[in-house]
Amino acid sequence: MSERFASAVIVAAGRGERFGNSGKVLSLAAGRPLLDWSLDVMLAAQTVQEIVVVCGEHTRDAIDRLIDDRHTGIPIRTCLGGEQRQDSVRAGLACLDAAVEVVIIHDAARPLATAGMVDDVAVVARGHGAAITAVPVTDTIKEVDVDRIVRTVPRERLRAAQTPQAFRLDVLGPVVAGARTAFTDEAGALEEAGIPVLIRPGSHANMKVTVPEDLLLVEALLARRQDEGVADVSS
Ligand code: CTP
Ligand code: MG
Repeated sequence: MSERFASAVIVAAGRGERFGNSGKVLSLAAGRPLLDWSLDVMLAAQTVQEIVVVCGEHTRDAIDRLIDDRHTGIPIRTCLGGEQRQDSVRAGLACLDAAVEVVIIHDAARPLATAGMVDDVAVVARGHGAAITAVPVTDTIKEVDVDRIVRTVPRERLRAAQTPQAFRLDVLGPVVAGARTAFTDEAGALEEAGIPVLIRPGSHANMKVTVPEDLLLVEALLARRQDEGVADVSS
């Protein structure tokens, strides 16, 4: 795979309320800022031609400094995000290279994606319009009415959505511009518009840091990745 046809938007403008620290994406995990790990992954991907990091006002200077320390052949830029995650995605899309074919959206709070996942969703989205990583749900899921179980939801057809998610820009652009409801991911906006979104393998290790305990698990997984060397970033 030699052609670079995708831009990566890393959303890092959240307030980290559940984590309890507005600098969540800069928290150290296995000795490096959380965001740094996702930059590695995007730089190792073979489809990525530029990277846009969407920052909060409170983190932009620190993120700019982090990026200045990177010497890469691929341009990395920053822009300011918005109130909701989807506002931040919209801001990121607005500062992409207009000629790009596919956009890959990734949460800075997920340091354990791999370049293999990124390239896979990018290639599938290029062919089919939209693709997201996801994993089978392992817990038994209950539908409830306040504090009582209504039923057990059969989990064979359930998947937990992750990022990276990738979209052809001609597919995502109009949907995001017209979205009126709030979505926790971009695939949600496409589903509502009746546009098919393909599911690709994520991994249980590709977890999101949401609450402080998640950082402990992520650190253990990142330490394993460091032990195994750079190769694991790309597999
Ligand atoms: N995000 C963003 N802009 C927002 C909200 C979220 O760029 N307005 C980003 C976060 O920085 C994170 C990713 O979207 O990388 C996933 O969001 P989440 O895990 O919910 O992070 P936060 O919104 O920061 O956390 P919380 O919801 O607990 O405040
Ligand atoms: Mg949030």
